[in-house]
Amino acid sequence: MSTSENTKKHVIGVGLISVGWMGKVHTKAYQALPVVYPELGISARLIIAADTSQERADYAVNVLGYEKSTLDYKDVLAHPDVDVVSICAPNFLHAEIAIAAAKAGKAFWLEKPAGRNAQETESIETAANAAGIITSIGFNYRNAPAVEYAKKIIAEGAIGRITNVRGTFFADYSADPRGALSWRFIRKLAGSGVLGDLMGHLADLMHYVVGPIDEVCGVTKTIHTQRPELPMGTGTHFAIIEGGDMKPVENEDYGAMLVHFADNAVAAGALGTLEASRVAVGPRARYTFEIYGTDGSVKWNFERMNELELAVGISGDKVGYQTIMAAPGFGDFSHFQPGAGTGMSYDDLKIIEAKKFLISYIGGVSENSNIHDAVAAARVVSAVEESASSKKWIPIKQSVGTTAAIR
Ligand SMILES: NC(=O)c1ccc[n+]([C@@H]2O[C@H](COP(=O)([O-])OP(=O)(O)OC[C@H]3O[C@@H](n4cnc5c(N)ncnc54)[C@H](O)[C@@H]3O)[C@@H](O)[C@H]2O)c1
Repeated sequence: MSTSENTKKHVIGVGLISVGWMGKVHTKAYQALPVVYPELGISARLIIAADTSQERADYAVNVLGYEKSTLDYKDVLAHPDVDVVSICAPNFLHAEIAIAAAKAGKAFWLEKPAGRNAQETESIETAANAAGIITSIGFNYRNAPAVEYAKKIIAEGAIGRITNVRGTFFADYSADPRGALSWRFIRKLAGSGVLGDLMGHLADLMHYVVGPIDEVCGVTKTIHTQRPELPMGTGTHFAIIEGGDMKPVENEDYGAMLVHFADNAVAAGALGTLEASRVAVGPRARYTFEIYGTDGSVKWNFERMNELELAVGISGDKVGYQTIMAAPGFGDFSHFQPGAGTGMSYDDLKIIEAKKFLISYIGGVSENSNIHDAVAAARVVSAVEESASSKKWIPIKQSVGTTAAIR
């Protein structure tokens, strides 16, 4: 990193590992920082990107603007000008790369799920702790201004003591049985299926807005047991393949759990249900929560991410929901739009994530989701799998150092 004291400019050297969907989104987020947050004086120098696909490595230089590319991620970690690394590889590489990054002393922004299970995620945490590096995890839904607002008013007591929650992360990206068998469906490459992919996001969102989950009882199911194969580094998991070679799906399409929340200031003993599906027909990316309290409730849906439904009060003729639109004053909204009604999008959430990561990297306030948050979410996900097989409630070991608890 080069820093000029007079102008307070921080030029941070960025390395990217894997140039798929998330690789592009991380890069766009770094590029947007000086425009969206000029007051921070943070800019990214895109130094080197790695992908085993030559085509994607070339794209990183020719289109995304990295100074060079490589087929070997180790070149990224060895580069002396790289300060921070975005790890956007398939899940099976996360632990290997993140642990190597920690050993190389590189701060990392790692996509979720950090590891393929709780144990692997804990191994990344151990390496990050030993190296004392800054970490950030791709829990982007936290950053939606309407979600930040919900967290804030819940913490202020607007809906009273939380009694119960409902969360659904319902996507249709694999609803079509001709949907490609990407790495996401193969256990050694992905770990769990929709649990790691979407339920981990939902668990983190509940940790962030409500507080830690301390016990779960779950079920899982694979709906489409075979799919046509997709070679690594080609297409996306949204691809439809006609007449392809059918191979078995090795992890679950659907998962659900009953949850019990640990005691905290707003959710003493609250209960809830959380569900995730990658084969839901109808919802496109309906990622929702409903949080009910003794004095009111809030509802959020990613498909309408700039809105929050709020009901406050239990008597009188005004009982019921009002729809509030994200506006300046809600999270980072004013950095993107000057007034309510003009919406933000998914990629904007990643810009906020990049900002939180790099502020923490330069020694500012640590609001970024971190590897301890990833461990907390992974413990919930692994417990659902354990519960689905043992048919028992599973207690969750609590994580220290998360940003999730109500503050
Ligand atoms: N936060 C979110 O909302 C979100 C959304 C999508 C994906 N993700 C996560 O991001 C990660 C990547 O997902 P994606 O959709 O971008 O995947 P993708 O399939 O689009 O891209 C993966 C890339 O990794 C490359 N790759 C494979 N082996 C490699 C290696 N050894 N070294 C370097 N590159 C290698 C592939 O060639 C490909 O370009 C996953 O962990 C996924 O769960 C997070």
